[in-house]
Parts: sequence; structure tokens; C-alpha cells
Amino acid sequence: MENLIVKGNANLSGKVKISGSKNAAVAILPAVAITAENVYLDNLPDITDVRTMIEILENLGVSIRRRGKNALELTPGNLSKIAPPYELVKKMRASYYFMGSLLARFGRAEVPIPGGCDLGPRPIDQHLKGFSALGANISIEHGMITLSADKLVGAHIYLDVVSIGATINLMLAAAGAEGRTVLENVAKEPEIVDLANFLNAMGASIRGAGTDVIRIDGVRSFSGAAHTVIPDRIEAGTFMLAAATTRGNITVEEVIPKHLEAITAKLREIGAVVEVEPEKINVKAIDPLVPTDIKTFPYPGFPTDLQPPGMVLLTAAEGLSVITENVFDGRYNHVDELKRMGALIKVEGRTALVEGGSRLSGGPITAPDLRSGAALIIAALTADGESRISAVEHIDRGYENFEQKLINLGASIQRVSEKGYKQLSYNRE
Ligand code: EPU
Repeated sequence: MENLIVKGNANLSGKVKISGSKNAAVAILPAVAITAENVYLDNLPDITDVRTMIEILENLGVSIRRRGKNALELTPGNLSKIAPPYELVKKMRASYYFMGSLLARFGRAEVPIPGGCDLGPRPIDQHLKGFSALGANISIEHGMITLSADKLVGAHIYLDVVSIGATINLMLAAAGAEGRTVLENVAKEPEIVDLANFLNAMGASIRGAGTDVIRIDGVRSFSGAAHTVIPDRIEAGTFMLAAATTRGNITVEEVIPKHLEAITAKLREIGAVVEVEPEKINVKAIDPLVPTDIKTFPYPGFPTDLQPPGMVLLTAAEGLSVITENVFDGRYNHVDELKRMGALIKVEGRTALVEGGSRLSGGPITAPDLRSGAALIIAALTADGESRISAVEHIDRGYENFEQKLINLGASIQRVSEKGYKQLSYNRE
């Protein structure tokens, strides 16, 4: 177990290069299983979730060679297994994308029901409804989902809820089905467009990704491809929100500003100064922050993944702000920890009332999940005193070199093991 010791009253300033997108990478890696030809992937973030995906692919029989820290060459020609192991699958939700890719290539997949961040109930009914419409037989027994189809056939599928996961899984399966599939009411996130571009580079015929209707003409086989993963808009947004919260001055570099418009608009509304250039965005807070409301929605709305750091920002704006979490039922894991730091927050159902303006104070904090963990680090950076953040493995799942990037911006953060922390306290006495 590792902890981060974070000194408060930080004022972050400087430039930070944004890594490749976690949520694009964890969709693109399982998609590699759809082809038997070699694939080259670049700009993969070096994070635990990507390492887990690589382990799953290797376990299934894919040979992988590293080409530097963020690039891989993958040879899926010998992929022979259709059942990723439970020990790896349980570590991350996106492992269920192997349902779509293995079904498309082999007509069969056996995937344990996945784990992932605890954000309240996370059903997969839309994935299963879509697979069934494409002609797959589905059985769920002893925690295992088994899908099989002699032949997948294109279908017209209307999603009842806008789901990133279901859109990706159905795009993968339909890419290998016979005939045309039309997916309606799908998610429009940039990560979906990135996956569609990768699949098209391998010979798929997918049109409309990025809109709410995607048309897919199935193909029999796929070629190899080379692909560069898009920048991580959630990582970029986290640093942009941290800049305003700590009253700092941060430039996020190598980003696609279009993907960040909801954040840019919200930061301006709250009183931060945001300057946008073709591949970078500068955020600084000069005037006092003013309270504002945040409502999370699927893209292009304000992302639910940035609601936790958004809430920390609102604690720094004097007055009452309201957050409405529209995507997940239970995405307020960070609230109890923020309250322990002195934040005035009241949650009722999907709504959180944040009375900002009083200073937070550091202390022992536990990171409950990935984005909440990142938000609590920002809270610790802006608080009075020192904080010890435990369960940082959640943060390592999805942010590449998070603490080092913050240190480069002027933060004082030290990573210590449980044992090391005792040693550190001992040294200070
Ligand atoms: N939903 C259903 N039925 C389904 C699928 C989803 O009711 O079959 C509901 C969910 O319960 C939720 C809503 O639809 O209320 C949206 O869920 P979605 O399927 O879009 O979420 P996801 O694919 O499980 C991805 C990201 C999450 C991100 C959400 C929302 C990946 C690997 N995960 O999850 O990212 O929060 O979309 O934008 O792309 C993170 O990166 O920290 C993270 C949790």
C-alpha cells in the first residue's frame, strides 16, 4: 500500500504535457483482438489500466513488443483463447470490450462480469440487448457471460440510455457482422470517434461516430493498422480545474481544445481566465471565484468524470453552488472525505449543495476511486497543512505520472509506503 504526502497551500504554475486518453486506450487495446494482422499503437498512457489490458491480450495469445514508453507493436495472429481470466478482468471494467471484439472475430466470447470504479449500479443490459439483436446467444452463469453466434447479422438497435460502453461493444461486434447495423441514441464521446477511426484504419466501415447515429457495414476480415491515441481530455480537464482551484497558472499542452469546451466555458463562468490556442489551453485565476452550477451530461456536456474535481473547485468559490450528477447514481464518493477536510457540502439524491469559501484543512484521506482520488489530491494541495492520501492505486489506474506532473508545476508531494510513512513521521519528531 502506498500513500501520497501532499503539502497544502500550493500555487501550481507551469506547463504540463497531457498523455494519451485512458478511455480511448482501454477500448482500442481490446479492439486489436478483432484482427489477425500486426498493429502499432502510439500515445498509450503508461497507467495500470493499460498494463492490465496488455496482460489480458498476452494471456489470450497476442505477442506484444514495447516500442518506447508509450508505443506497442502487437501481433494478434496467434490469439487463440476466447476467455480472458477473471483475475485480470475483475481489475477493470473495460475488459468487457473483449465481448464485442472476440464475438466479431470468433463468434464466441466468455467474459467474467467486470469490476471497475464503484459509482453505483452499472448495468450492462444495453450491451446484451444489442448483442442479442445481432444474433448472439447469451448465457450468464456463475459470474460468467458466454456469448456465441454461428453468424452475426446487422440490425437496427436503439439504445435506451446513452452508454459509452454499449456503443463501443456494439460497434466492435457489428464491425464483423454480415450486413448493415444502425446504432441509434449512441454516445458521442471523442473516445468513440477514436475507436471508429482505428477500426476503419483496419478496414471496417463505420460512419457517423461522434453523432448519435452510427452506421456500420460489416466486413469479413480486418487488416493491420498504425494508430495514435487521442489526448486525454479528462486528464487535461483535471489540470485545468486544479489551476483555478489553487489560484495558479497552468498551460495544458498537446490537447484538442474542442474536446474541452464544456470545461473552458465552466471555468470562465466561475471567474477564471482561459486562453485557448490550437493545441494548448492556459488557465489562471486572478479575480475571486464566483459560485456556479455544474450539471453532468454525456459529451458534449460537462463530463461526470470531472464532477469530483469540479466540486473541489466550487469549495473555493465563496457562496452556494449546486451540482447535479445526471450520469451515475452514486458518484459522490469524495464528499465524505471533503467534509472531513472542512468542506460544507450537502447531498440529496443526485444533487449536491456546496457552500464554498471556507478554507479546507489537510489530514489523512482515502482515495475512494480514480476521479475522486484525483479530486482529493487537488483538495489537499489547496488546503492548509499536510495531507496523507491512501489507496493511491486508484489514481495510478488512470493518470500517467500524476504526482510527478504536479511536482513539476510546483507541488510538494512524496510517495511513501505505509512503512515509509511511519519512518517519515519518526524522522520529523
Ligand atoms: N447504463 C445502463 N445500461 C447499460 C450501460 C449503461 O443503464 O447497459 C447506464 C449507466 O448505469 C450510467 C449511464 O448509462 O448511468 C452511462 O454509463 P456508460 O455506459 O456510458 O459508462 P461506462 O461505459 O461504464 C464510461 C467511462 C467512465 C465514465 C462513463 C461516463 C470507460 C472505460 N469508462 O463508463 O469512466 O465515467 O463512461 O462518461 O470509458 C473513469 O474514467 O474514471 C470512468 C469511470
